[in-house]
Amino acid sequence: MLLEVRDLHVEFRTREGTARAVNGVDYAVEEGRTLAVLGESGSGKSVTAQAVMGILDTPPGRITGGQILFQGEDLLKLKEEQRRRIRGAGMAMIFQDALSSLNPVLNVGDQLGEMFTVHRGLSRKAARARAVELMERVGIPGAEERVRQYPHQFSGGMRQRIMIAMALALEPALIIADEPTTALDVTVQAQVMELLAGLQRELNMGLILITHDLGVVADVADRIAVMYAGRIVETAPVHDIYRAPAHPYTRGLLESIPRLDQKGRELYAIKGLPPNLTRIPPGCAFNPRCPIAQDICRTDEPPLYEVAPGRRSACHFWRETLGREKPGEKPRGKPGGEPGGGPGATSEEKADE
Ligand SMILES: Nc1ncnc2c1ncn2[C@@H]1O[C@H](COP(=O)(O)OP(=O)(O)O)[C@@H](O)[C@H]1O
Ligand code: SF4
Ligand SMILES: [Mg+2]
Repeated sequence: MLLEVRDLHVEFRTREGTARAVNGVDYAVEEGRTLAVLGESGSGKSVTAQAVMGILDTPPGRITGGQILFQGEDLLKLKEEQRRRIRGAGMAMIFQDALSSLNPVLNVGDQLGEMFTVHRGLSRKAARARAVELMERVGIPGAEERVRQYPHQFSGGMRQRIMIAMALALEPALIIADEPTTALDVTVQAQVMELLAGLQRELNMGLILITHDLGVVADVADRIAVMYAGRIVETAPVHDIYRAPAHPYTRGLLESIPRLDQKGRELYAIKGLPPNLTRIPPGCAFNPRCPIAQDICRTDEPPLYEVAPGRRSACHFWRETLGREKPGEKPRGKPGGEPGGGPGATSEEKADE
């Protein structure tokens, strides 16, 4: 396994109290595979990624438990110097906002070149040549001339390509892309996503794609992890989730995607807001918003039930949710059942359809 996050906990000390931003997250990324991390704003997606990259704001943030195994090594046990070496060469991050992530006073050739002079010991001239190559690789026309330009001289989409080039420079084994296209126009979003997905396949990199846009995920991800209030509430191969979500929150997200074929139909939006992380509700954190919540949901925190091999859901009523009642209908029968059993074919059985 390329990356394994195990039972990760992150807190923020705030004036309001301790915000429990990450509450026991487990996820894994295989070599060359893409994990999409979904969830509304504030669910802990970025904080988890920052902990993996080793760029968490500490303070106010603090990792209070867990392990982050990268190629088998627990990053939380390394010295800052060792982590710095892994950043860039082992893993790299792409952020939403290229303008604030790139250095405004260095031309892009120098910024890209720095990756090679600092990490690879290349001469300035050789590094400049590599920078031009990289710019061509990410589809920037006229790279030979534009290598001398500054970030603000590029369009949003081209800047995002430059950031992708920076991340790819040292051919890391893992890329974390945190809402990489959110700030772009819709047509440009698709192009940048295509570029990223294409390079990821070509270079066989692991990719964590953080997004709140389920629309882009279907084409590029192998697996999905859905986060809510700092926990993974559902994790599964991508096609399983699209066919039949096993958690009411995932179902709500899926039913919120606008569809061209259903114009005018009112979208099902999940009612209410995510909880204040200093006061996460007892039981299932989603219970105040859940259309099928029962008494047990207000008292017992659901474990991540194994729905099928490689598929988990933190819902007492995952069977009923998979059974495709509409939101609002009461689930029948007993909650949960034993973890491990469950209906539905496995991903392998379904994958070849
Ligand atoms: N720098 C910070 N200071 C205080 N609290 C923070 C900070 N960064 C994140 N948090 C807390 O962590 C929660 C999760 O944030 P984040 O991981 O950025 O959510 P998202 O899923 O939108 O990426 C926030 O709602 C906030 O409570
Ligand atoms: S455990 Fe209960 S409240 Fe939580 S998602 Fe399942 S049914 Fe809804
Ligand atoms: Mg975020």
